[in-house]
Amino acid sequence: MSEVMPSGSDRAPVVKAQDAFTKAFQFRRADEAVSMGMHPYFKAIASQHGGTVTVAGREMVITGANDYLGLTQDPRLKEAARRALDDFGTSCTGSRFLTGTLTLHEELERRLAHFFQREAVLTFSAGFLGCLSVVSALAGRHDILYYDRENHASLYDAARLSYATLRKYEHGDLADLERMLEADAGKPGGRIIVTDGVFSMSGHIADLPGIVKLKKRYGARLIVDDAHASGVLGKHGRGTGEHFGLEGEVDVIVGTFSKSFASVGGFMAGDRAVVNYVKHHARPFIFTAALPAMQMAAALEALNIIESEPEHLDKLWRNVKHLRDGMNALGFDTLGSQTPIVPVLIGPDELAMAFWKSLWELGIFTTPALPPGVAPGRSIIRTSVNANHEPEHLDRLLHAFAEVGRRFGVI
Ligand SMILES: Cc1ncc(COP(=O)(O)O)c(C=O)c1O
Repeated sequence: MSEVMPSGSDRAPVVKAQDAFTKAFQFRRADEAVSMGMHPYFKAIASQHGGTVTVAGREMVITGANDYLGLTQDPRLKEAARRALDDFGTSCTGSRFLTGTLTLHEELERRLAHFFQREAVLTFSAGFLGCLSVVSALAGRHDILYYDRENHASLYDAARLSYATLRKYEHGDLADLERMLEADAGKPGGRIIVTDGVFSMSGHIADLPGIVKLKKRYGARLIVDDAHASGVLGKHGRGTGEHFGLEGEVDVIVGTFSKSFASVGGFMAGDRAVVNYVKHHARPFIFTAALPAMQMAAALEALNIIESEPEHLDKLWRNVKHLRDGMNALGFDTLGSQTPIVPVLIGPDELAMAFWKSLWELGIFTTPALPPGVAPGRSIIRTSVNANHEPEHLDRLLHAFAEVGRRFGVI
């Protein structure tokens, strides 16, 4: 509601409008939750020791982190980051486009292209920016973009940033996707399907064989966000494409260094022409400062380890089995997870919060996922395992879940 005021060069403002910040000044829910000890987010970690962390002087088993191969505390990564700091300093203070490209960017991109068996790779300052860049540059005004309802928030924002016509299909429902592709048959423009490889909340793996069939039938391009699959899926950790033996069918992989690569930053891998196009068109890439040297050096060292030490991946999958089988044996619903992300269905939001709080008191660091992150009434405690969890950490975790689950009648 706005009210027009008399105009005149000496009078301002001309139009009196409601204060756009009112919603911020009236937002109290988070402060109330903090004062009741019921705010599960932004918990400050004082130190990390692999599968455990220290929070407010207490050692807790941490779950839900994405340090899949357990490399964030590896002395080799720390040393590589220190060396890069000495060589290049603390920041690039400029865009890759202008003054921010280091030889280290080029080296990391070359090495990743070799690892993913692609013609070219481009790095971004965050995986989120990678998703924004790739989708907004490639899904143009005349194109149609099809995306899974459960895709990561970065792909939702990427879709909004693109000028393409948007089609959201039900999670994993390829009949729904096909109906949409069929209905669009004959319309002008290109088609792009974009999906998470591993879905970050449910831990589901996208049905790549089914998606590839549709991609071929309807002449679409396929972009896969492998943030949770790079370093995790496939014999060599090359992701969802390798897992299904369909690497050649994924046109572009987007990924992150903030998970298996134990750093921060993002990347895309694909054909040289496509990477080059994104490099010269994507505003979230061009108009932001380049990834700093320390982060790249850590990711590069992680890549060396991923390529030469398969034992981390083996241990990760042993831990996945330990946690998932343990949860299922207790009677929890893990929503059909197939990956290191093991969601535990609790149900109503308040119950999930009470569940989280009880786990916290037992020394287990988890985070609940509530609507709109999940469907109403389907709140979960999102757990995940890493290679740095030892069997005793997972047993402590399972004992705590068993105790709280029985107390609240969830199992
Ligand atoms: C599926 C998915 N895509 C993209 C991202 C963004 O990655 P980054 O943390 O590098 O910005 C994440 C991170 O949570 C993710 O889970």
